[in-house]
Amino acid sequence: PVQQDFKNVKILITAGGTREPIDPVRYIGNRSSGKMGYAIAEAAAKRGAAVTLISGVTTLTASAGIKVIKVETAKEMQQHVEANFASNDVIVMAAAVADYAVAEVSEQKIKKASEKLSLELVKNPDILLGLGQKKQQNQLLIGFAAETQNLLKYAQDKLQRKNLDMIIANDVSKVNAGFNVDTNIVKIIGKNNLVEDIPLIKKTALASIILDKINKLKTH
Ligand code: PMT
Repeated sequence: PVQQDFKNVKILITAGGTREPIDPVRYIGNRSSGKMGYAIAEAAAKRGAAVTLISGVTTLTASAGIKVIKVETAKEMQQHVEANFASNDVIVMAAAVADYAVAEVSEQKIKKASEKLSLELVKNPDILLGLGQKKQQNQLLIGFAAETQNLLKYAQDKLQRKNLDMIIANDVSKVNAGFNVDTNIVKIIGKNNLVEDIPLIKKTALASIILDKINKLKTH
């Protein structure tokens, strides 16, 4: 039997990638499969948490008992994350949110014509940054950082700037780490800037480690 150490804990998790439409048939997306976020959601539910999963695009399905809200764009994700924020104790942002959206989504399919075509992009809201500004004393806010260089420096910067309690930094340039694989290689960084290296590990096992760490933060 799994220890019910998340009983009475409400946890909000985001997973998967967002899609930003270009026209009725095209979009800008990313390689997130949802595996990392879903692994955390499943592990938390097994340990007794009440789980709300805000899911971007994925082929995965969550177990019965997990409340799933499906979204497509970053703005939709923001809307649902914000609506559920205040009622949750722990928030984990594992989703890969598009930083930019197409400025003017074409109502009709864009026809092939000129040799060059430019798309104008506008910045999306940073959901996690907004949550960090609203976070209450009794809430824990956990982020991810997906980097291809300066992993530690960029992740530590995000931890500070977004007012997080913990950040999981993955070097997504490594094979078997990051997007669309069953494993990950990460550094877990706490508020005290203490860094723990986690070498190659299954995302399901990493999910348990992340929850163990959250549990420690909860009781301190
Ligand atoms: O889904 P998988 O295939 O299993 O892959 C897992 C993963 C690589 C997607 C995951 O481990 C991961 O790193 N998720 C975060 C990806 C990301 O968007 O990282 P970032 O460094 O760009 O963003 C930093 C943090 O801010 C993240 O927690 C992100 O959810 C959040 N963010 C980012 C942009 C934005 N507009 N709003 C946000 O809230």
